[in-house]
Amino acid sequence: MAAPNWLSDAVLYQIYPQSFADSDGDGIGDLRGIAEHLDYLAWLGVTAVWLNPCFVSPMRDAGYDVADYLTIAPRYGNNDDLADLADKARTRGIRLLLDLVAGHTSDTHPWFVASAHDEDDHRYIWADSGPGGRLPERFVRSPGPRPGGYLPNFFDFQPALNFGYARQKADEPWRQGTEAEGPLANRAALRTIMDYWLGLGVSGFRVDMASSLVKDDPSFAETARLWREVRAWLDRAHPDAVLLSEWGDPAVAVPAGFHADFFLHFGGPDPGRPLLSLWSNGVATGPAGRDPEACYFGADGQGNAGTFLTAYRDALAAIGEPGHIALPTANHDFPRLHAGPRTSEQLPPAFAFLLTFPTLPAVYYGDEIGMRYIPGLPDTEGSISVVSSFNRAGSRTPMQWDSSPNAGFSDAPATRLYLPVDPDRGRPTVAGQRADQGSLLHLVRDLIALRRAYPELGPAGSLEILSDAYPLAYLRGGRFLVVINPSDRDRVLPHDRPKLAEATAVKQTGVRLDQETVSAGPFSFGIFRL
Ligand code: NOJ
Repeated sequence: MAAPNWLSDAVLYQIYPQSFADSDGDGIGDLRGIAEHLDYLAWLGVTAVWLNPCFVSPMRDAGYDVADYLTIAPRYGNNDDLADLADKARTRGIRLLLDLVAGHTSDTHPWFVASAHDEDDHRYIWADSGPGGRLPERFVRSPGPRPGGYLPNFFDFQPALNFGYARQKADEPWRQGTEAEGPLANRAALRTIMDYWLGLGVSGFRVDMASSLVKDDPSFAETARLWREVRAWLDRAHPDAVLLSEWGDPAVAVPAGFHADFFLHFGGPDPGRPLLSLWSNGVATGPAGRDPEACYFGADGQGNAGTFLTAYRDALAAIGEPGHIALPTANHDFPRLHAGPRTSEQLPPAFAFLLTFPTLPAVYYGDEIGMRYIPGLPDTEGSISVVSSFNRAGSRTPMQWDSSPNAGFSDAPATRLYLPVDPDRGRPTVAGQRADQGSLLHLVRDLIALRRAYPELGPAGSLEILSDAYPLAYLRGGRFLVVINPSDRDRVLPHDRPKLAEATAVKQTGVRLDQETVSAGPFSFGIFRL
């Protein structure tokens, strides 16, 4: 079944709930805080909001260590606040998506505590210790009376839920099949969780580590079977709801049952390369220890849009019609667009690309005003991840609303904030940029409005690439010409389509169309109607 229509023209907005708006003065964002800013999101024009996990949790991985899937963490409010938020959002044309942490729980979750007390419980993956008390590689010692150890999924305190193994091995008895009792119970639990929140008014989920469920599944055949089963149920029970995966490989994830998957800083045949080749300018990211090559959106103009375009085309060919490829500006795990050497004048061409390309755009909160990645913050709620030394806290600082104390994020003393506000006195704010028609915020809003007004600019419109160098130039729906120059130099594109010179500018900064050339000034973009 194809994705619900609303996803086709969606503009996603990701909110890290800790840092968006604090309504009760405890220094941590909450659901009422988000509700109080729904008018802003409606003004901006986004159509769906994805919230990072906001469930009961010891918060050792910022809520990705869930201890109760069916209860909102008290610091964010309660389940009624969530229902209220979904309802208020919907009346403004905004759908609410939650984060489904499907692959693991916290080690404080009652399921895990029970499992650590009962050798017949197989909701998690347990192995006995071998000679000398040694556990198999990667297993973590049992914290309960149960002997042996369990398999973690990410941090050690995140035991992997047992969805079975794709391959069995006689000498590894902990490898159960996907139809064993534990995996069946866990699959049923996923449906129960989804059904509950969908019943409260949410419109779907971003699924954490979606590819990780069935273990030792190199082709993802069994993991795909699992998600296709979930999808079939969803299509029947909640046909308007969507599942977006954290997989990083849309060519595999969409055929596996997801409505959309993100290009991310990892995943896919050349891990993370499509996204990194656009944005990553080497800011301490080191995803999986990689030293990123020059990115296309770098002032030095040393990048190559072809890497992304090829990956996009390949993914599209694998997906066919029924799904989408989501392209984020950033997220809570990797640096914001405004990071390292990238300056604020480089952001407009990046947004012009994001919002005129057929991928599903996802704006990470604060990127629409050009908030910075802040280096050097303390490790907060597991922000220094296990897979690299990158500190994710720098992408998770409080939203900058206005020029009042704490940038209007919270009334708490600055020392009690979840993370400090960007200390830069010239930091951008929503209020400041709303008052300035020439701001990034107004540009992002105008680009969103344009995309929503002209379906040719969305996933349905055709794409013809005229140049994948500097400037990047493409036609959308045969009707719009888009020119993007993220480099710090003038760029000229010769062409043999004299008609281009007659196109009218819809929105542009420093791009000129002539009979035989397109000229693009430093950090410019142009959207023209043919
Ligand atoms: C991916 C999430 O985006 C990340 O923040 C989290 O730490 C891991 N999954 C573990 O759940």
